Amino acid sequence: MAHPREFAEGLSIGIIMDGNGRWAKNRGLPRTAGHKKGAEVFSDIADYCDELGVSSVYFYAFSTENWKRSEDEISTIMRLFEAYLHEAIDTMERDQIRLKILGDTTALSPAIQGLIDKTDAIAARLPGCFQANVCLNYGGRDEIVRAVNRFAAEHPGETITEAAMAEYLDTAGIPDPDLIIRTGGEYRISNFLMWESAYSELYFTDVLWPDFSEKDIDEAVAEYRHRDRRFGGVKA
Ligand code: IPE
Ligand code: IPE
Ligand code: MG
Repeated sequence: MAHPREFAEGLSIGIIMDGNGRWAKNRGLPRTAGHKKGAEVFSDIADYCDELGVSSVYFYAFSTENWKRSEDEISTIMRLFEAYLHEAIDTMERDQIRLKILGDTTALSPAIQGLIDKTDAIAARLPGCFQANVCLNYGGRDEIVRAVNRFAAEHPGETITEAAMAEYLDTAGIPDPDLIIRTGGEYRISNFLMWESAYSELYFTDVLWPDFSEKDIDEAVAEYRHRDRRFGGVKA
């Protein structure tokens, strides 16, 4: 759909991509089939956000709690990431997309860590471009704990401030999400961007992630446009 430039330009959007398993179950398919379709939708939606002029987008792809799933499901998800990272290495420069992986990457396979090093190096050459953040082995609480521990190690005896905290988080330098969209019909945050979502507008939809489309982003942004953000103040 064609939009005026100001429709979504400059927005920061977080997306909790939920419902892959139920989408597959509804079709009598294994959960892994939902993740495969979900990965395709993720690529399309990332491109659409870029097209809309969104400044940055955060995709919640794998949480610190998702290790509770079966080995088969986890290894399928990790294989999909590996394939995505290979593709990103080939296309980031051409498409001018800064890919950043957020989360505790030390627990990921050496192969995936090596690919992330490569995407980081490419991203460093693309300042100011549309930024796609993928939260992988990410937990909001874990991110806060890692940030505080790193601050304490580098500044022994000092107390942390909100500004220092923001610099030590995985999201340092990336705008907080203005809008967080959760697909799949659950009304919860599930440990996504706990610090950064303090004043995000929340939007929940029953659409399962593999069915999510450009039209659904349009609907979420259109609703966001009607929200009255006060940040604790009083409307003039
Ligand atoms: C989201 O879909 C993807 C991940 C959490 C990795 P789910 O796999 O959680 O799908 P449902 O919620 O079981 O349908
Ligand atoms: C949230 O979905 C995590 C991701 C989308 C990666 P979950 O399916 O893990 O969340 P819960 O378990 O329903 O809270
Ligand atoms: Mg789920």
